[in-house]
Amino acid sequence: METKIEKLLKELTLDEKIGMIHGDGLFRTKAVERLGIPALKMSDGPMGVRQEFENDAWKAVGNSDDYVTYLPCNSAIASTWNRGLAYEAGKVLGEEARGRGKDVILAPGINIKRSPLCGRNFEYMSEDPYLTGEMAVSLIKGVQTADTAACVKHFAVNNQETERLWVEAEVSEQALREIYLPAFEKAVREGGSFSLMGAYNRLRGEHCCESKALLNGILRKEWGYDGMVVSDWGAVHKTKEAAESALDIEMSVTDNFDDYFMAEPLKKAVEAGEISETLIDEKVRNILRLMFRLHMVGGEERKAGSYNTPEHRQCVLEAAREAVVLLKNEQKRLPLCRNDIKRVLVIGDNADRLHSCGGGSAEIKALYEITPLMGIKKLLGGNADVTYVKGYEADDISEPCSDVNWQAESLENGGGTVARQEAGDTELLEMQKNLREEAVRLAAARKGAGDKGVSADAAGAVDGKEAFLYDTVIFVGGQNHLQDLEGHDRPDMKLPYVQDLLIENLLEVRPDMVTVLMSGSPVEMPWLEAAGTLVWQWYAGMEGGTALAEVLFGIVNPSGRLPETFPACHTDCPAHCIGEFPGGEKVWYREGIFVGYRYYSTRKVPVLFPFGHGLSYTEFTFSNLQVRQCTDSDREKELSVQVSLDVANTGSRAGKEVIQLYVGKEGTQKERPVRELRAFEKVELAAGESRKVTFHLGREAFAYYEESEGAFRAEPGEYRISVGKSVDDICVYASYFLNTLTSGKEIQ
Ligand code: BGC
Repeated sequence: METKIEKLLKELTLDEKIGMIHGDGLFRTKAVERLGIPALKMSDGPMGVRQEFENDAWKAVGNSDDYVTYLPCNSAIASTWNRGLAYEAGKVLGEEARGRGKDVILAPGINIKRSPLCGRNFEYMSEDPYLTGEMAVSLIKGVQTADTAACVKHFAVNNQETERLWVEAEVSEQALREIYLPAFEKAVREGGSFSLMGAYNRLRGEHCCESKALLNGILRKEWGYDGMVVSDWGAVHKTKEAAESALDIEMSVTDNFDDYFMAEPLKKAVEAGEISETLIDEKVRNILRLMFRLHMVGGEERKAGSYNTPEHRQCVLEAAREAVVLLKNEQKRLPLCRNDIKRVLVIGDNADRLHSCGGGSAEIKALYEITPLMGIKKLLGGNADVTYVKGYEADDISEPCSDVNWQAESLENGGGTVARQEAGDTELLEMQKNLREEAVRLAAARKGAGDKGVSADAAGAVDGKEAFLYDTVIFVGGQNHLQDLEGHDRPDMKLPYVQDLLIENLLEVRPDMVTVLMSGSPVEMPWLEAAGTLVWQWYAGMEGGTALAEVLFGIVNPSGRLPETFPACHTDCPAHCIGEFPGGEKVWYREGIFVGYRYYSTRKVPVLFPFGHGLSYTEFTFSNLQVRQCTDSDREKELSVQVSLDVANTGSRAGKEVIQLYVGKEGTQKERPVRELRAFEKVELAAGESRKVTFHLGREAFAYYEESEGAFRAEPGEYRISVGKSVDDICVYASYFLNTLTSGKEIQ
């Protein structure tokens, strides 16, 4: 391949090379037809292949041929903790992209969730670098089975939307190495991501897409990356810097393609002898390498891909099922028994809302989207009456993606501003009040004599739960893509549209209500104590409503686990109470490595739900934890610690459990988190079944980044290995001694 690349490179003129390293359309580069080098076609994004735009305008082509499979968002994929499913979801994404004629799919987004307020959190996976890295590797491998390149983004430390084009992240080297970079390293080294997208923000005084430290130093030199690096759209600001950095392709949002920094201005600088052509050759090499890897050049056979297949829909349904997180199930009200249900009242805008077409560049023109209301109705069929009321008025954004595109203007306003606050106008509040009162009246309504057809006004006729007109009340609220949105961060974690009051009022009259929140980021829950039954669903793709209904009615046993902590409010979050968010021109990451649960668990800050939390309809027990130094001769030189335990399903139905392994150093002088996720496995067990689960921990599981040495090191001494169902629900633990020669002792 390298020989072929060099041969092609020699034949290319400067003009042709320049054409290959910048956008010649909003989502493509220029082809060199005489040499059989095609244009490189890219497309968003993480939840499916985006609709077609005109080549030079943010105007949707508007044909009927670009409806696609809509996948669960990355937070949902991470919530499955199922590497196999991430791989399958990646395969769907890759095949759909190829099927639509694309070469690069601009996904997955793997930035660390530093604050719950970041508007793009739904596009990202987790607050934890290990979980993010593991899921990303599987997803990327899946994408690339289809001769489509994954494009892991946004490199790096892109954790907020406010001032996103200019903000400078002031982060310590230790936090960079332990929190913000590891998932990217894994994505390129283990996942083999053929491409990577730079971030909008600045780091160490440089814009990430022109950063010598980040791109030339860490990515290329340290990690040996030989894939293609593309800028975020409009993230390049200077010709010389971009040329000298290890960026390969400049993309932007405007149609003056020849004026891009790496277009005519670069050509002129080369001709004037100010910039060496060898820098351009290096970029072209990386692009050609990508093309060879995708079998785009050299007359090789290339997979054709496919989109909207029944298999793809089945896969996104599987992923959506495993992404649902059962947060609370007091009195075991769930699963609901469909045979017992005659009348259901469904309340809430999210029960009836389509989310696919929102969110920013992750928007999807979905072939279809099953809402929770449709999911419930299609599951219950005709033997139950399902009544739906809104309960609150949310903004109307359900129009198909319009011609006027925010992206065209994003260089002017794309610095990101804080999302709009709840509209305070009295007319709207009055409308909310009326909708709320209607919903509460219906929820509280009792049966009158004769049962059927009795209006809600007959309320109060009979006492007792059996006498409620609706035997089941399901609330489906949360957020939508006006809060979970590219280019904006939320002002706080409060639920929009006066929902807190609605939920509180509903729970007063129906403490048995099933509360479902659908959202891309956590929200405050002031009514939590009163809500005995609580289900969480991320934006879950085209089959999200089917999956939700199946969980509610027990067709599926929930097995999603939170890939991030749900704090009580954003001011509890370390980015806010120790560091800054969103900051000004600079944002100081003073919380260092204490991001997410690393902070809450170590500092014992109460949270609504801890990292890794999620319930099941069955029970699992963990026992017999064994830790021993591996004696495998192949592994002698490398530290390898084997941890095994028995996991049993002691309940009465089959289910899946996520076994989470955390490591923490005992008695260290260093400021370390009390425990950090170092391994996990999801297992499926039949009722009564048990299984031994084994993990192998390498040196990195014990290591931290020592700034004074500029390297990772593992302190000798005692470590606690904890295995549990969440970071705060540790079921079994053992000590392990690491001595200086890495020959740890077996201790239980
Ligand atoms: C986003 C990227 C996206 C690109 C192309 C930018 O606004 O930050 O994630 O891939 O646009 O649409």
